[in-house]
Amino acid sequence: MKKKVLIFTGSPREDSYGASLARVAARGVKKAGGVAEIINLTRLKLNPCQACDRCRQRGPGQCFQEDDMIELYPLLKKAKAIILVHPVYWFTINAQTKIFIDRWYAFGGDNYVSFKNKKIGLILTFADSDLASSGAINAIQAYKDMFNYLESDLMGIIGASLQDRGQAKKDTEHRRQAYELGQEMAR
Ligand SMILES: Cc1cc2nc3c(=O)[nH]c(=O)nc-3n(C[C@H](O)[C@H](O)[C@H](O)COP(=O)(O)O)c2cc1C
Repeated sequence: MKKKVLIFTGSPREDSYGASLARVAARGVKKAGGVAEIINLTRLKLNPCQACDRCRQRGPGQCFQEDDMIELYPLLKKAKAIILVHPVYWFTINAQTKIFIDRWYAFGGDNYVSFKNKKIGLILTFADSDLASSGAINAIQAYKDMFNYLESDLMGIIGASLQDRGQAKKDTEHRRQAYELGQEMAR
């Protein structure tokens, strides 16, 4: 069976640089024999976690909230690999993506077994010149702690600086990295 790789994008911009790298990663997935599905988080209705702990009674992935996470929980549970693609906002993970991540709390009832050994890839976009000055480094540290806790396999991290939006198509280095990450995730 072909390996399914879910690619979540968290930029609200129509011509998002991250979304274009996500499409390249999806081509890499396909090339390696997998199936990629790109899901734009910003088009979904996702409420923040209410910290009510009702999921602990209801069962893993059974949040009481009736929003679009209802469809995402089973997809997340089943996927062998996921790639998160989002811009850095205010020196860390942007809110659109963080709301989605917070909702993974609903998998805690069985100690997050759904995330154990799941392959994870990250593509972070930012405007400043490097990981430190942009704050991408803070997001990356959070992800390292998160996926260490969840016992997931953090396979690759791409930090893509784009100071001039007109340059996105010419950014061959990050496009190559995204393609290779896609291939790696599908193996
Ligand atoms: C609210 C907001 C906060 C931002 N904060 C940062 C930041 O802390 N560091 C940075 O390098 N870029 C920051 N940026 C710039 C974006 O990260 C950058 O434009 C990125 O390339 C956008 O990617 P996208 O086209 O996929 O949305 C910020 C942009 C916005 C709108």
